[in-house]
Amino acid sequence: MRVEQSTLFGALALSPLALAGPLFQPRATADSGAYDEFHRTAQLSSAAYTGCIGTAFDVTITKQINELSTDTQGFIGYSTSKQRITVAMRGSTSATDIANDVDTTLVTPSLSGVNFPSGAQIMHGIYSPWSSVHDDVISEVKSLVEKYPDYTLESTGHSLGGSLTYISYVALAQNFPGKQIISNAHAAYPIGNEAFANFGAQQNGTLNRANNADDGVPNMYVMWPWDFVHYGTEYYSSGTAATTVKCSGERDTSCSAGNGQVGVTAGHFSNFGIQMGLAGCSSL
Ligand SMILES: *[C@@H]1O[C@H](CO)[C@@H](O)[C@H](O)[C@H]1NC(C)=O
Repeated sequence: MRVEQSTLFGALALSPLALAGPLFQPRATADSGAYDEFHRTAQLSSAAYTGCIGTAFDVTITKQINELSTDTQGFIGYSTSKQRITVAMRGSTSATDIANDVDTTLVTPSLSGVNFPSGAQIMHGIYSPWSSVHDDVISEVKSLVEKYPDYTLESTGHSLGGSLTYISYVALAQNFPGKQIISNAHAAYPIGNEAFANFGAQQNGTLNRANNADDGVPNMYVMWPWDFVHYGTEYYSSGTAATTVKCSGERDTSCSAGNGQVGVTAGHFSNFGIQMGLAGCSSL
């Protein structure tokens, strides 16, 4: 999907800033120590575009996700070096994926093992692909949890895969209460209403938003008529440890919210030092 800000979302590009008031002060702080975590999950997110077999960097793949009915791909596996069980979802590559990216009709989700609060709604373009793989993901993670009971859980992905991470995090946190979990949503657009975002933020774990400088995708759907809400902690980087900052709140103007971009812009295709889809399957 290559929607320049001047086209689909251009007319709305300035509205979040036009509304800027005391809530929109830049407050980010330098956090070079956070870079390695996001560089690694950017590699895994890139690997999800590549269709790696057997291994993806430090992760041994135990299950490929390839649901043809909704064109949903990713992989599940485990990392002995990180002691984590991993779920990685692929971003957009097909016409079906792009149709999902723009299918913003809100629906009330229902997923096994998840107790959504009343009023929580997410966009159909995320609910449809995730619900088609949810049971398979939970059952594969369950069998890995039995094999590696001391491992923690993680989920990740870039773009559509990042937005799927907003729901994979909730799905895993709810189905595996008491398991430590970290999910890194790279270059994600928000997927649901405030009640959903609040529910995401209440889960017992860590959800990070890992965003690249000048990427307009995190600014999609935040404005009227969608008013979708991000949750988690945003980190923002030009692709190096030295430029990595930890942002404050969901609309920190020293991070994505202030970059003036909306939609798929040039900054969308790399993330924390990784060219998405071009990083291969292993660090040689
Ligand atoms: C939250 O997760 C931790 C592991 O990270 C676990 O020890 C604790 O029991 C969990 N708390 C609740 C209320 O589930």
